[in-house]
Amino acid sequence: MLSAFPAARMRRSRSAAWSRALVAETVLTPSDLIWPLFVTGGEDLEEPVASLPGVSRWSVDRLAEQARTARDLGIPCLALFPNTPVELRCDEGREAVNPDNLICRAIKAVKNAVPDIGILTDVALDPYTTHGHDGIVDTRGDVLNDDTTKLLAEQALVQAAAGADIIAPSDMMDGRVGVIRRALEQEGHCNVQIMAYAAKYASAFYGPFRDAVGSRGLLKGDKKSYQMDPRNAEEALREVALDLAEGADHVMVKPGLAYLDIVRRVKERFEVPVFAYQVSGEYAMIEAAAVAGAADRDALVLETLIAFKRAGCAGVVSYHAPVAARLLHDS
Ligand code: PBG
Repeated sequence: MLSAFPAARMRRSRSAAWSRALVAETVLTPSDLIWPLFVTGGEDLEEPVASLPGVSRWSVDRLAEQARTARDLGIPCLALFPNTPVELRCDEGREAVNPDNLICRAIKAVKNAVPDIGILTDVALDPYTTHGHDGIVDTRGDVLNDDTTKLLAEQALVQAAAGADIIAPSDMMDGRVGVIRRALEQEGHCNVQIMAYAAKYASAFYGPFRDAVGSRGLLKGDKKSYQMDPRNAEEALREVALDLAEGADHVMVKPGLAYLDIVRRVKERFEVPVFAYQVSGEYAMIEAAAVAGAADRDALVLETLIAFKRAGCAGVVSYHAPVAARLLHDS
């Protein structure tokens, strides 16, 4: 039996900072963070993303300084996303499989500057298509599953050949993890990891990201025929089971805060590293709350990231990664 008041006073162990530190159940360190960076063509460019205040797109030659910042802050991994020039986008997103595309050049630039930082790359066609969908679309507007996965495997191979360490399929096509895993094995990339966006929901939180990669204005319709319905949780467990069976090393839940129940259920059921993506709309909400004077930004950043760890995440993809890492170093 637990003792009751006054034998039990819950406030005793909260009464001093040293004691709170001693009993803390959750630890957040910079090594829990993956920092997403947007890449743009051209040279010596920093293009601020209006809907993501504080986040910019960087030209390839300016990525090295970002990578060094990440290394100095103890952030172990970067996630790279391209803003493909409009003239290189087509219906099938063919630029995704060009071994000299923006993302491949970005991977090489980062690896050159900081060889021991991890690089995660997104596999999906949306930054490369004229319609903004993650796959190939037929004349009726349906996203074609099996034709798309073939292209995704090719995309994964060019990224791996350029030096990507973690392939992260975010497209939600069925069977793509297996197709990508087989392709990687066949080409000798047996140590390239796959972090599957296993439970990725059709979400209103992705708006600023679509601005950043230039797909928002292009997107026809929505992504509900492939991304998950926010009403479903059991289905997320099935998605995770399939991606693990097909060869994923880690799984991701996305968006983050609104889906912590999914993180917890996945962690408890599968006992594999689970990551969450605190997505662009979540970043924008925190920044807007701070600007409105509704809350302290730094406190919101740390509290939300700790919530992911408490829910069971091994790590978090967050645009606040460098802000958080600095706060953690200063504290
Ligand atoms: C592309 C992709 C998206 C995000 C990551 N990869 C957008 C989408 O699915 O429409 C969103 C990330 C964010 O909002 O920060 N498939």
